[in-house]
Amino acid sequence: MKTIIEPFRIKATEPINLTTLEYRKKALEKAHNNVFLLDAEDCSIDLLTDSGTGAMSTRQWAAMMMGDESYAGSRSWKRFEKTVKSITGIKHILPTHQGRAAEAILAHTLIKRGDVIPNNSHFDTTRANIEYVRGIALNLLCDEGLETENKAPFKGNMDIEKLERCIQKYGREKIPFGMITVTNNTGGGQPVSMENIRQVKAVLSRYDIPLIIDACRFAENAYFIRSREPGYADKSLMEIAQEMFSHADGATMSCKKDGLANIGGFLICNDDQWAEDFKNQLILREGFPTYGGLAGRDLEAIAVGLVEALELDYQVYRHATVKYLSERLLERHIPIVQPPGGHAVFLNAKKFLPGIPPLQYPGIGIVNAIYVEGGIRGVELGSVMFGKVDDKGIEQASPLELVRLAFPRRVYTQSHFDYMIEIIEQVFVRRDKIPGYRITHQPRFLRHFTCHFESC
Ligand code: F0G
Repeated sequence: MKTIIEPFRIKATEPINLTTLEYRKKALEKAHNNVFLLDAEDCSIDLLTDSGTGAMSTRQWAAMMMGDESYAGSRSWKRFEKTVKSITGIKHILPTHQGRAAEAILAHTLIKRGDVIPNNSHFDTTRANIEYVRGIALNLLCDEGLETENKAPFKGNMDIEKLERCIQKYGREKIPFGMITVTNNTGGGQPVSMENIRQVKAVLSRYDIPLIIDACRFAENAYFIRSREPGYADKSLMEIAQEMFSHADGATMSCKKDGLANIGGFLICNDDQWAEDFKNQLILREGFPTYGGLAGRDLEAIAVGLVEALELDYQVYRHATVKYLSERLLERHIPIVQPPGGHAVFLNAKKFLPGIPPLQYPGIGIVNAIYVEGGIRGVELGSVMFGKVDDKGIEQASPLELVRLAFPRRVYTQSHFDYMIEIIEQVFVRRDKIPGYRITHQPRFLRHFTCHFESC
């Protein structure tokens, strides 16, 4: 088999700062050992997120120059609407400035206190928007989705029996809609099969409950279906995406992922009354329904990006980068979540640093060591981000201690990945020198963003 090459060449370059070990030690100290507090310029390779960090194509930049900035009914809006409709087949299209804005409108319009929203796994902002209106966000992920080394092909699937039980328990009246997140970010970017989407829809339909897809990474999910699910190998990614959305009554989307844009999102639905209610919220929060918090040029960039994300060569390359890094880490016996998902590689911090107890945050130890060693910024997904405090005020560890290395789209080349492998290997070889950490300062909410650490 031939080498899978980046299906693009580089027309504009963005310099990255190459810093010294000493410089990075000082920078991390100044950031109170929390990589969220670093200056981005001090990160040579930034894997904090794949959201809004991608590179746009010449076609997108050219389309941006065609942006129509009219307040109402712009040409760019029409292009955006037509593209989203062609992929999703859904009737009403509302642009938003990003994914969580779509979630907020959905939550404020449809959820009452005590309502229950089942999902395979809610992303943080989805959960927060549901809980903000006093709803209950339930994760009904299949059991294998939590097993870090189970190689099942669709670990993002919802457990259909759990869904049935959830509806029996709470009743149809308490469930204004169900959701499914493709791919399942919280569970490591794991895909959901078409069969599972179909089954979820069938169960919900029996109770007349609508289905909303959280579609952030719909194109990566379509590629997984094409390569792993029987019957899809000869279909185009566009056809697969269309089939995925054909089972939905609506969707929320962050175009900062598979829209291949730096900002943007949408909320879509088939129901006319919902659309009316969403529009009222949209005007209040985002803007007039034909721009919804975006400039005309953003709408143009997204319209092109959504279609480019469904190009097979692009997805083959994208998935090859994830595979490349994960296979080489595995060859070096570096523990990762398997199989890797679509947008990131997750290091298993519990296995990487077995001597450090969860409440000394092994994930932070690895994140900080990788930064100091090579200027690579990853993020902890473990007891700092997800740890809870029990009734007695005692901190409880999270079930998993992971480090996410998320890949911006079309940004890093193979030599950047080779460099990541070298740095992670060096850190792994010297892992017994990595300290645990304690928190010296933390805010009340979302502590991982701003808390301060010191080594212990
Ligand atoms: N849903 C999922 C599955 C997501 O991964 C995200 C964002 C959102 C919704 C919210 O979209 O950021 O445009 O408001 N995930 C980013 C991440 C932030 O780093 O995984 P947004």
